[in-house]
Parts: sequence; C-alpha cells; structure tokens
Amino acid sequence: MAFPPSFVDELVARNPIEDVVGQYVTLRRSGANLFGLCPFHGEKTASFSVKPEKGIYYCFGCHKGGGVINFQMEIEGLSYPDAVRALAKRAGMAVPEDEQYQSRYQKQERLWALMKEAGRFFNERLYAPEGEECRAYIARRGLTKAIVTQFGIGYAPNSWNALVDAMRKKGYTDEELQEADLVGEKNGRIYDRFRNRLMFPIIDVRGNVVGFGGRVLDDSKPKYLNSNETLIFNKRKNLFGLNFAKKTKENAIILVEGNIDVVTLHQYGFDNAVASLGTSLTEEQVTLLARYTEEVILTYDGDAAGQQAAKRAIPMLEKAGIKVKVLQVKDAKDPDEYLHKFGADRFRLLLEDSSNRVEYQLNAIAKKYDLREDDQKVQFLQESADLIATLSSAVRREVYGGRVAEKAKITPEAMKLEIDRARKRWLDKEKKKQEQIDLAPARNLQPKSRTIRYDNLKSARAEEGVIALALKEPALLDRTEKLPESAFSCPLLGRAYAMLKQRHSQGLEVSLAVLEDFSQEEMSHLVGVSQNQQFPVNEQAFDDCVAIILAEHQAATVTSEDDLLAFRANLKKRKGIKE
Ligand code: CTP
Ligand code: MN
Repeated sequence: MAFPPSFVDELVARNPIEDVVGQYVTLRRSGANLFGLCPFHGEKTASFSVKPEKGIYYCFGCHKGGGVINFQMEIEGLSYPDAVRALAKRAGMAVPEDEQYQSRYQKQERLWALMKEAGRFFNERLYAPEGEECRAYIARRGLTKAIVTQFGIGYAPNSWNALVDAMRKKGYTDEELQEADLVGEKNGRIYDRFRNRLMFPIIDVRGNVVGFGGRVLDDSKPKYLNSNETLIFNKRKNLFGLNFAKKTKENAIILVEGNIDVVTLHQYGFDNAVASLGTSLTEEQVTLLARYTEEVILTYDGDAAGQQAAKRAIPMLEKAGIKVKVLQVKDAKDPDEYLHKFGADRFRLLLEDSSNRVEYQLNAIAKKYDLREDDQKVQFLQESADLIATLSSAVRREVYGGRVAEKAKITPEAMKLEIDRARKRWLDKEKKKQEQIDLAPARNLQPKSRTIRYDNLKSARAEEGVIALALKEPALLDRTEKLPESAFSCPLLGRAYAMLKQRHSQGLEVSLAVLEDFSQEEMSHLVGVSQNQQFPVNEQAFDDCVAIILAEHQAATVTSEDDLLAFRANLKKRKGIKE
C-alpha cells in the first residue's frame, strides 16, 4: 500500500535514523557520520555506518542499507506497513490506514493475544485437579514453582476440547485457533492439538508468546509436539529463553539443546541459557545471537548427536564473529541432569573450564584414532597439524603443537615441522582464493546482490553516477530534460531515477530514505550506489554520465534497427526478390 508521501516524509523526519538505530547499536561519532557494529551480520570491527544528514545507514561489510523504515523492517523482521506503524507509534503519529494492512496487523495482534490466553489457560490447568500428574512430573524433574511461573510453564489437559472451549468462550474464532496452530481438524471439526503435555511457551525477544513446545509426561512418542510456522511464529528466527537471556549481565550466552536444560539452568542462576527449539542451529538464530552477545558457550548433550550438532554449530557461530567455547558435561547426559546431580558451583567450574574450540576439536580428532597404531598415529598428527596451521598466532601454534606432540609421543620439533608445512599449504590455498576474487574485476562490477544484474556495465556505471550525484546535489536533476527513464539499461536504477526526479520536480526532498516500493535488496543496492565517491559533485561529471547513458542507449537502439533492416533484406532475398 502506498501511504501518502507527505505522511512518510514526516514520519522519517520525526524518527531520526541515529536515534532509531541507536536503540539497537552502540554508535560512535566520527565527523558527520556514526559508526558501530553491524546488527545484521556478526563482526568485530565496525563497518556499519549511519549518515544522519542523509537519513540512511549502510554496512560496508554485508552491504545492507536503507532509510529508517528499511532499518525497522530489517531489524524487527517487519513488513513495510508494520515498520511504518511501529515508527509512527514511536513518534506519536496517527497512521492513515488502508483496510488490507490494518486487517493483517490486527490479525497478528489477535494471534498474540490468543497465544497469551492459551498460555494462561495451560498454566491455570496445571494447578487444577487434572494437573496433578503434571505437577508430580514437574516435581520429579526438580523444577520449582518460581521457575514454572517465570517461564509460564503449563499443562495441556488430556482432552480433545478443553482449550477449544475455553478460547471460544473468550471470543476467539475457530479460524483464529487454526491460524495459531493450536488445533487440528477432522471432518470439519477442530480439536485440541496439545493433549496431556507439559507446555513450554516460546516467547520472542519482544515478549510475545509466539508458539508452544509440549513435552509428554512419560516416555511415549513423539516426545515433543511443537507449534508449526504461523503468521507470528518462525522457528528459525527464535531461541527458547532468549527473552530472559538477552537481559543477562554475563558476557556469554550458553547454548544448550533442550527446553528443560534452559529452564533448569535459569533456576540454578544461569540466566544466560537459550536453546534452539529442536531444530539444528539456523543462520537466523546465529544472527540473532550475534545481536546480543560476542561469546557463546556450546553445551550440547554428550551423545553422538549432540557432538555432531556442536561440530556443525562452531563454524556457523565463528563466521558471525562470535567467540565459541565448548563445555563438556561429564558424568551426566545433559546440563539438566548435571545440575541436579552436582549443583550450581560444580557447573560454574565447568563453565570456567570450558575450552576454546581448538582444544575441543583437537580432542575430537584424537578420539577418532588409536594412537598405538602407527598409521593411525600419522593420520592423527596430520589432521591435527592441518587444524593448528590455521591459527594466526605463532605462540598458539606452538602451544597446541607441543600438546599434540606429547600425546603422540613425538618431539615438539618434528611436530613444528609438520605444522609449518601444513601452514604453508594453507596460506597458498588462501592466497589462491584471494587471487581468484581479485582477478575477476568484471564480476566485481556486478552488484553484490544475486537478483540485480547489469546488462550494460558501461551504461550502468554512468547510471549509478547520475543517482549518486543527484542525491548529493538534487539541483543537478534540472539538467535531465533529455534523459528519459527508458534510456537506463538497468530497470532498477531507472526506476529510482524517475522517482527522485519526480520528487525533485514536486519540490519534495530528494532522498532514498523516503522511497517506497523497493525491496530490501533493491534498497540496499541503491544505498550502496549512493556511497559511490568516484564522481566529483559537479555539472561536468553529471553531464558526462548523462551523455554516456544516452550514447549507450542509442547504440543499443541503432543496432536493433540495423538488425531489423538486415532481417528484412534477408527475407526479401529468400522470397526471390519478387517485389
Ligand atoms: N525436540 C523436539 N522433538 C522431539 C525431541 C526433541 O522438538 N521429538 C526438541 C525440543 O525442543 C527439546 C530439544 O529438542 O527441548 C532437545 O531434546 P531433548 O534433549 O530430547 O529434550 P529435553 O527438553 O532436554 O527433555 P529431557 O531432558 O526430558 O530429555
Ligand atoms: Mn535433554
């Protein structure tokens, strides 16, 4: 939907980008601009910039960018109209509404309210007579009433219609119950999906109940029943317990496998524990974690599946700039069991001992081989050397090399030789990778985004110039009478040009921050274009760009006219030149 331009302009003006971004990112001023750690990809050095006077943000690392509305959309995962609504609320403005969007937003609000009611219902049932078995189960698992209340844990009665009836009474429709995935349907009748289960509400970082995980009270299968995707719930983008863990004073976040592990950890005072909702860790969850912490302590179950999951999670987290430590629970199958057996102090010792990922991976390599066999010992040494070779610190390489040598009973010198050789191989490989990137200048001119392609690079460069210069000096747009949108070889740039030109002619502000109708990817690309410093801001440079676009366009058109003439001539020839 198109909100009135004047409304959007005011909305943008009343939500200064540095204030809105500042709610999520710690920004430091440097000249006219502000810099901070990008909230969209994990990083250790700031490449995220905010330009207050242009009303835009741009990350030089991941190339995301846009105006304040785009930022709101991206950071909260909102649609365009919902981002506008959120910003309007922030600035105390009334939103001119369109029915369709109003209804979508209202639907979300209804579902949030419904899920909250359902959570309350389950919690009440826990203390009703029918909750007795579940209360006994909770006691057996050692959970206190306080923690049950904090997490809003409840009991879904062993009934086909208890929840349905209660929610209908509260005014929710069958359709809404289905949209919230709280019910199943058979022969046109709906029934409670969660029956006789211990219910864990899944709460997003904004505090809304968005889903449930329901555990059986015995050993029957399936052990868990979880909410499926709904309008308000995306499993990939949530972590169980993050609504609490995000407020922790600890530096690190403890990532575990089970809901119960999270609850028990919190009960024992570890308020920084989260779990990944039964899915293996997703990229979205990693991005979410990177927003709240710089260090993750992986505490997966000791079984093979848990170790496999850890192995997979380590590089994902590290790629996002998160420091990874791995905690091994000994003499217990998971943190939950460990805490009940040995208590919080012992667990704290484990936390302090938790090794960095190199030690952990070296141990994992050692476990694969029988060091009494010569050929296996050689393989162990080589694989370890390959891993150690990737460390940039010579001291660390020596320390770990020494440990491996000791384990395999060879001299540290021999191990050092092996590591040096492996490091040379590794550096060569890295260099080749870099060369391949550097050697492809033509490819580099193409937009980073996969969906935007330039067909005519020469023209596109000039088109980028027109847009970059017009944004810096809108008066230059007066010099474009002869430049139609259709002359642009890149439709996206042409569209942006037309919109900026129109705004200029209407006396509105010429800025990317207020443009609608561009996808997030397109907007990021346009902001990237606006960062282009290659063109001096003057009329000559602008006219040169316009001339190139027109010339390239004409060349393309002429060629096709030539083609047409040639085609007709050919046709005549084939017909035997009768006419
Ligand atoms: N899970 C799931 N479906 C299953 C089994 C597990 O969705 N059939 C998810 C749940 O989110 C669960 C997590 O994977 O919390 C880890 O599984 P598990 O360790 O088996 O469950 P716990 O919650 O730790 O329960 P318990 O300690 O009783 O085994
Ligand atoms: Mn478990």
